[in-house]
Amino acid sequence: MLSLSFPTAEVTTRHAQSLARVLNAGDVILLSGEVGAGKTHFARALIQSLLETPEDVPSPTFTLVQTYETPIGEIWHADLYRLTSTQEIEELGLTEAFDHAICLVEWPDRLGALMPENALHLHLEDGPDENARRATLRWTDDKWKDKLTAWQTT
Ligand SMILES: Nc1ncnc2c1ncn2[C@@H]1O[C@H](COP(=O)(O)OP(=O)(O)O)[C@@H](O)[C@H]1O
Ligand SMILES: [Mg+2]
Repeated sequence: MLSLSFPTAEVTTRHAQSLARVLNAGDVILLSGEVGAGKTHFARALIQSLLETPEDVPSPTFTLVQTYETPIGEIWHADLYRLTSTQEIEELGLTEAFDHAICLVEWPDRLGALMPENALHLHLEDGPDENARRATLRWTDDKWKDKLTAWQTT
């Protein structure tokens, strides 16, 4: 487990950008936390840092999934808040994407049994003031230990 404080939105952006540098195809980041916690902010900063040509990164609230092409491969950004059934996860192609793409998933509890075991769990919650957040990272796959060590030293 790793606990970090993001005292401002800008600090969150910087952490997302540096995490982006250690990602590879098949890496899944599950972003949990209440509405307004900063899940989309984190995902947007991470994705935009990998795009060759600047592009809007809207919240996938209604589309459920948005995909992006980057030099290190395809990125899938999902927001499963409005998911109606686990069948929809398969239909969206998300289960396959977990294997071949970099996936950032908001409201990952909706995945139920389809939650990938090798994912990094990043939970965001309120910090000591309005613009502060606390991040708690958890994982079971050892690959994250090396990636997060590399992350924290960038
Ligand atoms: N330290 C911080 N980290 C991330 N976002 C922050 C922070 N401080 C303020 N914010 C703001 O909080 C809001 C988070 O919204 P959003 O990322 O859409 O949340 P979520 O996707 O979790 O519902 C954004 O407007 C962002 O600018
Ligand atoms: Mg969101």
